[in-house]
Amino acid sequence: KKNKIFVMGSYVTDLTARASHLPKPGETVFGQSFRTGAGGKGSNQAVAAARLGAEVTLVTKLGDDAFGKLALEHFTKEQIDTSQIAIDKEMPTGSALIAVDDQSENMIVVTAGACGKIKREEIEQAEEKLADVAIALTQLETNLDAVERTLELAEKHHIPVILNPAPYQAIPNEWLKKAAYITPNETEAAQLTGIRLETEEDARLAAEKLYQMGVANVVITLGKKGCFLYNEEYKGKVFPGLIMDAVDTTGAGDAFNGGLAYALANEVELIEALQFANIVGALAVTKEGTAQAMPTLAEVETCLKHSLLEVKS
Ligand code: RIB
Ligand code: NA
Repeated sequence: KKNKIFVMGSYVTDLTARASHLPKPGETVFGQSFRTGAGGKGSNQAVAAARLGAEVTLVTKLGDDAFGKLALEHFTKEQIDTSQIAIDKEMPTGSALIAVDDQSENMIVVTAGACGKIKREEIEQAEEKLADVAIALTQLETNLDAVERTLELAEKHHIPVILNPAPYQAIPNEWLKKAAYITPNETEAAQLTGIRLETEEDARLAAEKLYQMGVANVVITLGKKGCFLYNEEYKGKVFPGLIMDAVDTTGAGDAFNGGLAYALANEVELIEALQFANIVGALAVTKEGTAQAMPTLAEVETCLKHSLLEVKS
């Protein structure tokens, strides 16, 4: 089971334009560049873990179209197990319209398309794969009944799940009890708890609330500030990130989650796994794009060696 990860999540084609500033409603701005790439939070997290060396099975759904064919080629190139990927005859492959400005801020409209139509039976068909991994990883970018079935089957087989609640959708509270880890960013943590996150104390309150709702390990990602852990042992602790020159922060959260899953699947202690994940996230912002920006294990290790990361006790 070691090094094996099950991901249930989205695949969408990222259509990314860079412009000096993001358009306001009704405004047209000139772009400087445009590129088409592989995206979707599920797929991005799968790629992040696979590039680090994990054996990854991805459950998602594609359209019967040119973008779907490109996606399959992409997964094969990234050495992701494609045996559990379904094709929808009616729905197109999902897409994300992304604009990135000179400050590397972004704005995204995601249309799930085929990956918003994953059937419960399609998750059940992958049950054997799910039962054979060290950790499962899922997000909220597909239809929610697919997430629910993943959580149920993981629970049945005692497979720990990382639930990345992104993008935010309202979910039943009992789902939280089925997740061993929840990894919201500050916005999602606020949406889940109703607590606005401005200070470290706000993060502690939000994390505590999620912990009391039943998630054993609450990890709030703080962008370049790193991440915040709340669990039985640590009643709120910041793990500082690495500050990098950001080129494109899109997909940084996905890099973090893929990195965390990889480390946990290789029996790394949570504290070290979080620092590892911080580095994976930091490296991803130094490159354009989402999946294509995910670092290799060699790149992360070089960075680990050179970083002056100290764990404050
Ligand atoms: O997390 C980044 C991803 O979310 C992008 O690749 C885009 O597809 C959006 O859905
Ligand atoms: Na990036």
